[in-house]
Amino acid sequence: MLSCGRFGRILCAVTGIIFVQCAANGQSLPNLFPFPNATGLLETYNTAGDSVSLSGPFFQSLGTNGRSCVSCHRPAQGWSISSDEVKLRFELTYGKDPLFRTVDGSNCGETVDTSTLAGRRKAYSLLLDRALIRIQRQVPDNAEFNVVSVVNSYGCSDSSTLSLYRRPLPTTNLRFLSTLMWDGRESSPQAGTQKITFATNPGDLLADLAHQAIDATDIHAQGSAPLTEEQQKDIVDFEMGLVTAQAFDYQAGP
Ligand code: HEC
Repeated sequence: MLSCGRFGRILCAVTGIIFVQCAANGQSLPNLFPFPNATGLLETYNTAGDSVSLSGPFFQSLGTNGRSCVSCHRPAQGWSISSDEVKLRFELTYGKDPLFRTVDGSNCGETVDTSTLAGRRKAYSLLLDRALIRIQRQVPDNAEFNVVSVVNSYGCSDSSTLSLYRRPLPTTNLRFLSTLMWDGRESSPQAGTQKITFATNPGDLLADLAHQAIDATDIHAQGSAPLTEEQQKDIVDFEMGLVTAQAFDYQAGP
């Protein structure tokens, strides 16, 4: 039995960095390219072609803070992020990669000092240690509960706008979704999107994903203009083509 542990984690993070270089050069990833991780190999297959193109709008800065979808949805990390890779990205860029933005990357945005390296390390500790993004949600007017008080050791203790800390969900294997986002808000009539049902699928899912791409650009990338219909379609087509699995496990085999 092979034991990978720390070495595997570092290798995995380094492979991710190599990938970023490829993306910067507008290259593509061969189908089933094996990304090592702590327990084996992870592979992605694009059902819409023989490679995964790294140059579409998913990989472009569409807002104002330098982020793109791939800042938080990375092929080598199962199209999410991992704490190991985030830490390496922080060290390589002194905490200045666009992932590190106070809008939702810092523990709280109100009072953080990001002018020094030590300040950034403290401000982004939940992102570094747990790969968490701060998602701010208003308590709905018709909520069946009251928020009496919030005690958040990082600040952000507002009880009408709640700060929830969430790992990015993978942007792959999406054809299997029956809800979108951790709280289902991008597939919910209460939030102005469509419920995903057996009868209306895949039209409902495609519409919800297009809507989600607009919101992601608006919020995470601090977009100043909505995505065009063509950009939305490119992103949704790209996401819908991806299928990802742990293809090899050091203990279980292929
Ligand atoms: C700053 C990090 C960040 C960026 C940039 C980002 N996302 Fe996400 N994404 C997240 C987080 C965090 C969640 C989960 C949030 C939640 O459920 O409240 C998420 C969830 C998603 C989901 C939901 C998947 C599911 O299973 O429900 C999709 C799809 C998605 N993102 C697509 C995109 C696209 C497309 C872009 C670019 C336009 C993008 N994201 C940019 C962090 C990010």
